[in-house]
Amino acid sequence: MRLTWRVAQETLRLVPPVFGNFRTAAVDIEYEGYVIPRGWQVFWASSVTHMDPAIYPDPARFDPTRFENAAAPPCSFVAFGAGPRICPGMELARVETLVTMHYLVRHFRWKLCCGEKENTFVRDPLPTPLNGLPVELEQIAPLHCN
Ligand code: HEM
Repeated sequence: MRLTWRVAQETLRLVPPVFGNFRTAAVDIEYEGYVIPRGWQVFWASSVTHMDPAIYPDPARFDPTRFENAAAPPCSFVAFGAGPRICPGMELARVETLVTMHYLVRHFRWKLCCGEKENTFVRDPLPTPLNGLPVELEQIAPLHCN
């Protein structure tokens, strides 16, 4: 389950479902020569952090093992936001994701029905498969529901 979550995290890093959110500056802030006055709204964008090569070397590469390094700086994985307004559904989402991935991998053989070119997504604003992502599933192990 630890490796499964790393795979999920790496997916959330590359394609964060929520691409950012607004915050209000509580005090005047100077950042890289720009002054953000108190009261102004700023937009944090998850991809700016997730694609920063200083945090994630070779950021476009899918590599779940990068989350094995426990020494990642704080707020470097922000798919669920950060701070007091961090997603309160994070742990529920984690369990749902792990259960879904477990059943998909252990109980089904599955393959994508789209070709390489059609197999992409659009943002509306959540990432959505362009062609509905048809997959072919074959059950290979019984599901125990009791
Ligand atoms: C993969 C699944 C999910 C992702 C990627 C996600 C992501 C996020 C993000 C980025 C925020 C904004 C946090 C911030 O501004 O710092 C947020 C807020 C929120 N999420 Fe989620 N979320 C997920 C699942 C869920 C679930 C399952 C629930 C509820 C059952 C939920 C409920 C909320 C609520 C109520 C807020 C607003 C919190 C506030 O403004 O104080 N989310 N989520």
